[in-house]
Amino acid sequence: MFSWFKPKKKSVVERVIEKKVENFQNPRMVLERFTAITGIHFNQKESITASKLINFCRNHSLYSFEELSHAMVNNQKILEALINMLTVNETYFFRESRQIFYLVEKIVLSQKAVRILCAPGSTGEEPYSIVMALLDRDVSPDRIEVVSLDINSDVVALANKGLYSARSLHKTSPHLQVKYFAKEGEMFKISDEIKNLVSFHTLNIFDDALFALGSFDAIFSRNMLIYFDEPTVLRAVERLSRLAKDRQSLLFFGHADFVKTPSVLVEHYEEGVKFYTPH
Ligand SMILES: C[S@@+](CC[C@H](N)C(=O)[O-])C[C@H]1O[C@@H](n2cnc3c(N)ncnc32)[C@H](O)[C@@H]1O
Repeated sequence: MFSWFKPKKKSVVERVIEKKVENFQNPRMVLERFTAITGIHFNQKESITASKLINFCRNHSLYSFEELSHAMVNNQKILEALINMLTVNETYFFRESRQIFYLVEKIVLSQKAVRILCAPGSTGEEPYSIVMALLDRDVSPDRIEVVSLDINSDVVALANKGLYSARSLHKTSPHLQVKYFAKEGEMFKISDEIKNLVSFHTLNIFDDALFALGSFDAIFSRNMLIYFDEPTVLRAVERLSRLAKDRQSLLFFGHADFVKTPSVLVEHYEEGVKFYTPH
């Protein structure tokens, strides 16, 4: 019975794949390469990260950290997916808003056009907050250009969509919620009036394409440097300060981003707001 049935012979490739055995030994080699590319350090969270890396490898048919480490250099898609998994993108509208309102009042008084950079802008709440605050103070849209970058392509795509949960808006005044958002089910859609004034880029601040963005009157770099070690913070700040238009340009960092002011910056403190200008 069924003598006609012969199991199909396996191809050479199938037989080679079958022989492959997982061997996840040394996550450090992956993490060190990741840090060299992105600046992000893992410190004590290494064991959690190692189990995330094993899942990542299994989802991408990689059998060892050596293979992953190799793929990070030779396969742009793998690197992108890894970055999208390992970056922390927490943000919300009007986070540390005193800095935003301080800048807005300066711009209102100056009556000039401004270019503002958010590096990083994550899912868009920070750059959109700046534009909302400016328009709400009747700054003309043709005076405003905001550029936002982030290394994580998924968050850049979300920023471009401009659709947010109520959680993202918990620090947004009811007045601005009504003025600049439309309800879509449980979500809030940012208005085109705000959206059109921000451009979003997937970009690593350690990539020299950074310098093609031009120069800026104000640079926000908040809550990214906390993931870097001290030498990397200094390198990042030095690169960002090179994007300043002139010595009047203002730089804003998160309150935990660094303790000692990097030598390329001059620290200022006005009206309860800390900010910096280039040296
Ligand atoms: C915690 S979010 C901060 C977002 C916003 N600035 C804020 O303060 O709410 C940090 C962001 O930094 C981005 N990031 C980390 N390393 C980066 C790098 N080397 N270049 C550009 N963006 C980076 C991450 O993808 C993440 O979205």
